[in-house]
Amino acid sequence: MTLRASQLDFEPADALAALCKAAGDPLRLNVLRALTNDSFGVLELAQIFAIGQSGMSHHLKVLAQAGLVATRREGNAIFYRRALAQMETVGGTLHGALLQEVDRLALPLEVRERIAQVHQQRAAASQDFFARSAERFQAQQDLIAGLPQYRDSVLALLDSLDFPAGARALEIGPGDGSFLPELARRFSAVTALDNSPAMLELARLRCERDGLTNVQLQLADALLDDYPSADCVVLNMVLHHFAAPAQALQTLAGRVNIGGSLLITELCSHNQSWARDTCGDLWLGFEQDDLAHWALAAGLTQGESLYVGLRNGFQIQVRHFQRTPSLPYVAERPSLARTIDR
Ligand SMILES: C[S@@+](CC[C@H](N)C(=O)[O-])C[C@H]1O[C@@H](n2cnc3c(N)ncnc32)[C@H](O)[C@@H]1O
Repeated sequence: MTLRASQLDFEPADALAALCKAAGDPLRLNVLRALTNDSFGVLELAQIFAIGQSGMSHHLKVLAQAGLVATRREGNAIFYRRALAQMETVGGTLHGALLQEVDRLALPLEVRERIAQVHQQRAAASQDFFARSAERFQAQQDLIAGLPQYRDSVLALLDSLDFPAGARALEIGPGDGSFLPELARRFSAVTALDNSPAMLELARLRCERDGLTNVQLQLADALLDDYPSADCVVLNMVLHHFAAPAQALQTLAGRVNIGGSLLITELCSHNQSWARDTCGDLWLGFEQDDLAHWALAAGLTQGESLYVGLRNGFQIQVRHFQRTPSLPYVAERPSLARTIDR
């Protein structure tokens, strides 16, 4: 029996055609390039590529229909990031190869400058928040999760690691310094680095109160300024205040001594957009896979993870990444995750 054209199943070819169509435009290819290590809202992308919002929305729709970008709601805004290639589906191999080729493109200088502007706008909003809210710090932290809720999990991971005698720790964004006594007890020297003078003053008071003599405070931006690397770098609830978290992981990986560890405590992805205004959060938590992917891209290997479920519905992830001597590509180790309820 012969089939008429209308009876033929064109769906796989349609998907492939959508992919080819989406890729057949230089602006869309540059958008994919800009999303290599980042995610942006429509307005940000319109600003970066200096085109109108409706024009950018159209291009993003074409990319989304082709499965080249995925969306994520961040409060009232929709953020776009690159979708990962699904090798087993039609077009998957082409999708993977396309992203590899796109990564070889150099974005025009003015586009890179406007990306930097968007990052600066985000970072300024975060810094402004901590400058204004140091005196309400603890109350604000407690709205979602305070250190008592994740301290034991971070310590459990920390104490499972083997650091050499004389190892040094670096805490980025120590806030009011509540975690510094724990680090001071375990490491011969600790640097506490924060870009907010008001927060650093709280940390200083804490060190003074607890008589911590091996903690050095440094006023610096973790992503822009120079500071010494350490055997253990700790970020508790800081990454969601960074303008470009994937890029930040690249910078931070370079601050971990070879063989050393990066410990990240973060919120898992959530949809409580009030956290932006009330807690100064730039990102509403992170997908566990995104963190692993960014760390891997930064040359880190994944260690154990702990998950802490909170009664208020938030979930915390405590992640360990290691800087190994020869930065191999290591597949994720899903079986290493454990969950704790609080
Ligand atoms: C939410 S508080 C976390 C405080 C503490 N680690 C905790 O777990 O309670 C975020 C801290 O990161 C600091 N911070 C944000 N961006 C930073 C940057 N680019 N460089 C250094 N510190 C930063 C803020 O000033 C603030 O002290």
